[in-house]
Amino acid sequence: MSATSRTSLQGLWSSRTAFVLAVSGSAVGLGNLWKFPYIAGEYGGGAFVFFYLLCVFGIGLPMMVSEVMLGRRGRRNPIATMRLLGEEEASNHWWRLVGLTGVLSGFVILSFYSVVAGWSLEYVVQTARGSFTDSEPRAVAANFEALTGDWPRLILWHSIFMGMTVMIVANGVRDGLERAVRILMPLLLILLLILVSFAASTGELGQAMGFLFKPDFKQFSAEGALVALGHAFFTLSLGMGAVMAYGAYLPKDASITATSVAVVLVDTLVALLATLVVFPMVFAFGLDPAAGPGLVFETLPLAFGRMELGSMFGAFFFVVLATAALTSAIGLLEPAVAWLTETTRVPRSWATVGLGLVVWSLGLLTIFSFNMLADVRFWQGTLYNNLEHVTVNILLPLVGLAITVFASWVMCGNSSAEELDDDESPLAYTVWRFLARFVAPAGVAIVFLNAVTSSPGIS
Ligand code: PHE
Repeated sequence: MSATSRTSLQGLWSSRTAFVLAVSGSAVGLGNLWKFPYIAGEYGGGAFVFFYLLCVFGIGLPMMVSEVMLGRRGRRNPIATMRLLGEEEASNHWWRLVGLTGVLSGFVILSFYSVVAGWSLEYVVQTARGSFTDSEPRAVAANFEALTGDWPRLILWHSIFMGMTVMIVANGVRDGLERAVRILMPLLLILLLILVSFAASTGELGQAMGFLFKPDFKQFSAEGALVALGHAFFTLSLGMGAVMAYGAYLPKDASITATSVAVVLVDTLVALLATLVVFPMVFAFGLDPAAGPGLVFETLPLAFGRMELGSMFGAFFFVVLATAALTSAIGLLEPAVAWLTETTRVPRSWATVGLGLVVWSLGLLTIFSFNMLADVRFWQGTLYNNLEHVTVNILLPLVGLAITVFASWVMCGNSSAEELDDDESPLAYTVWRFLARFVAPAGVAIVFLNAVTSSPGIS
C-alpha cells in the first residue's frame, strides 16, 4: 500500500477545525495557565516572554509540523507509525522505540498531571464556597498544604478527573475527543476572556502590561533562556506522541503547516491571556510576581478573596484550569489507547478503562509523595519529582529530537515534500526543513543538556 493511501483505524477528524481544536486542546493546559505565569514572573517578565515567543515559533513550530506529518503519513498509533516509517524510509524497525518511549512518557505524565488537575477541582469548590474571603496569606498557604497532606481527598479528585478522561477517550475520535474539544475549547476561551476583562477592570492592567511586554534584558539570565526553551516544548505537547496520534486522524487535504501555525497561535494566545489574568491582580494586591509554583494556588485565591464577586470569578478561573487540563489529559491517554486497540483485539472502551486504571494506580505514587511517602527522597527529591524529571525534562526532549531528526534528515525529501508541499508554498517547506534540520535539534540539545545537569524543577 502506498504511504498516502493508508487509512486510520480509529477514524478521522470531521474537519481541519476539529483537528486544530483537538491539538490546541492538548497543547493548552496546566502549562499555559499555571506554569507560564509563574515562570514569566520568576524570570523577569518581558525579556522572558520575548525569548519564549522566539522558541515557540523557531523550535516548537517546526517540531509540531514534523510530528503531525509523521502521524498522518503512518496513520497508526505512534509506535506502529515509527516502525512503519522507519522500515519504509531507512529499513530500520528500531525507530519504533522512539514511539514506545513517547507513549510510555505520556502515560506517566498523565498519572501526575491528573493529580494536579484534581487540585484545581478542589479549588473550584473552595473558591465557590467563599473559603478565601478576606483570608490572610498564611492561611491560604496553609490551606494548600493541608490539601496536599490529605491523601483521601487527593485520591477522590484524582479518581474523578481520571474518570472524566476515560469517559471521553472511550467514546472514540469523533464522539469522544472531537465532541469534547468542540464544547470545552470555546468555553475555555470565553471564560478566559471574561476573566481578563475582570482582571483588567479590577486590577492593575497597565502595570501588568509593562511588566510582561517591555523587555528589560538586564533582568534576563541564561537560566531563564533555558527554562523558556524547555517550556516552549512542553506547552506544545511535543515529544510524547500526542500530536503524532492526532495527526494520524487528519484528513489528507488539510494543510499541515497552516494547521500547526493555528495551534501554536492558540497556545500562545492562551498563555498570554493567562498572564493578563494573573498579573493585574498580583500587582493590585501587592503580591509577589516571583512567588513560584504556588502563584496560582496560593496567591490568586488571596486576590479573589478580596474582590467583589471574587468567589464567582475565582471558581471560574479554576474551572478554566480544570477544563484545560482535561483536554490535555485526553491527548496524553489517546496514544496508548490507539496502540492497545491496534495491536490487540481489545475493544476501545475496555482498552481505555484498563489503561485508565493503570494510570490511576500510578497516580497514587504522586499522591503519596506529598504525604505518607514525603520522606522517601532520592536524586531529584520525592518520587513525584523523579517521575516528573525523567519524563518531562529528559524523555520528552529526547523523543522530540529523534522525531524531528527522523522527519528532516532520515525521511527522504520526496516523502516529506509529498506530505507538506502539495497545497502549500514551497517557501513554507524550505523554512520548515531548515528549522527542523538545524535550529530545532540545536535548541533541544541545549534544553536536554541543561535538564540532565540541572537541579529539580521544570514542571
Ligand atoms: N501541553 C500541556 C500543557 O501545557 C501538557 C502536555 C504535555 C500535554 C505533553 C500532552 C503532552 O499543560
